[in-house]
Amino acid sequence: MRDAVIVDAIRTPGGKRNGQLRDWHPVSLAAFVLNTLVQRNDLDPALIDDVIMGCTMQVGEQAMNIARNSVLAAGWPESIPGTTIDRQCGSSQQAMHFAAQGVMAGAYDVVVAAGVESMTRVPMFSSWTDIGNPWAPEQLARYSLTEAPNQGIGSEMIADEYGLTRLDLDQFSVQSQLRAALATKEGRFENEILPIPIDFGDGVKLATRDEGIREGTTTETLGTLKPSFVEGGKVTAGNSSQICDGASAVLIMSSQKAAELGLRPRARFHAFALAGADPVTMLKGPIPATAKILAKSGLTLDDIDLVEINEAFASVVLVWQKATGADLSKVNPNGGAIALGHPLGSTGTKLMATLLNELERTKGRYGLQVICEGGGMANATIIERI
Ligand SMILES: CC(C)(COP(=O)(O)OP(=O)(O)OC[C@H]1O[C@@H](n2cnc3c(N)ncnc32)[C@H](O)[C@@H]1OP(=O)(O)O)[C@@H](O)C(=O)NCCC(=O)NCCS
Repeated sequence: MRDAVIVDAIRTPGGKRNGQLRDWHPVSLAAFVLNTLVQRNDLDPALIDDVIMGCTMQVGEQAMNIARNSVLAAGWPESIPGTTIDRQCGSSQQAMHFAAQGVMAGAYDVVVAAGVESMTRVPMFSSWTDIGNPWAPEQLARYSLTEAPNQGIGSEMIADEYGLTRLDLDQFSVQSQLRAALATKEGRFENEILPIPIDFGDGVKLATRDEGIREGTTTETLGTLKPSFVEGGKVTAGNSSQICDGASAVLIMSSQKAAELGLRPRARFHAFALAGADPVTMLKGPIPATAKILAKSGLTLDDIDLVEINEAFASVVLVWQKATGADLSKVNPNGGAIALGHPLGSTGTKLMATLLNELERTKGRYGLQVICEGGGMANATIIERI
């Protein structure tokens, strides 16, 4: 069977809500990433068979197939199509799966998987309009609810279920901040972050750093924050992923095509898995997704050199760790969404950029990426560095 390889993976720096990326229309942001991707690989965009883009809030500036709009805004040939994926927080990880699977099946030779979300300009839940409730009466009855489940409450439920304390969540979050600060200081994100021009009226500057990192975070400062979702609860702004703007993209092709184009493959897609779990607690999907992908690939967690699991909430990672027994020293070694932000639709391809670069830096072989998703689902991907 044909293989699918990653030639490059890039991302914007994360922008805080109303922060450094606030003036970027999400279509323009995604178009900027697409253009940077082809420019730095000296690739003629006309060779790209499709652009598959994750985006969760497909409304307003992100409505009407943002993948195709980004292709047109990038100035690429009209012959290049685009399609937009909603797998909630794993949308661009799913875009990557479809892209790689399309290459392996022979449907594509060269394809871009990408993701974008401006949580500033198109806030979370803005696609849930007054036109109606996305949860039908049958679903509400099935789960004895009066409204669709909330992920913040889910994060409290799973923390309780696994006996996690507020201090457990805060300690993990401090570690995320410190790891992200160190990784930034050591330049570990430099190859994946594309400098992006911003102008707040005092001349154009290049944004090169993730804006959300708070280097001075301690368990004492986090301990003062009020619970965000449940009175008397444990989940706060400090141990949740940050609202974030960003875009990212991965260039995928067959190894044969890469050789033909004189491009160096950096990793090969090794395995894919999907899982569905209880949609009310919502955030435990990474546990069965990890079990499935390990079973499919014949690998164990000991064979995996690095893991990127999305820090939607600290409880997601800690619950997953308790269930799988994973060694946290090789999990999110450069911090995660608690420090760096979680730009929903962009997070899948963003985490892949980080996983790939860190696998290269540490000369690891296998990397696992897993993301929990609204509706109780999860995507898992294993790549092998070449
Ligand atoms: C948790 C959440 C609701 C918090 O939102 P918010 O209250 O607007 O968050 P803010 O960034 O304004 O932070 C709130 C306060 O905590 C403080 N804070 C946050 N992180 C901190 C840190 N590491 N150290 C010290 N203080 C911190 C902020 O300074 C702010 O203080 P202020 O009110 O005095 O200004 C929001 O981040 C969220 O919804 N996150 C999850 C996103 C999500 O669900 N994604 C999908 C996953 S399934």
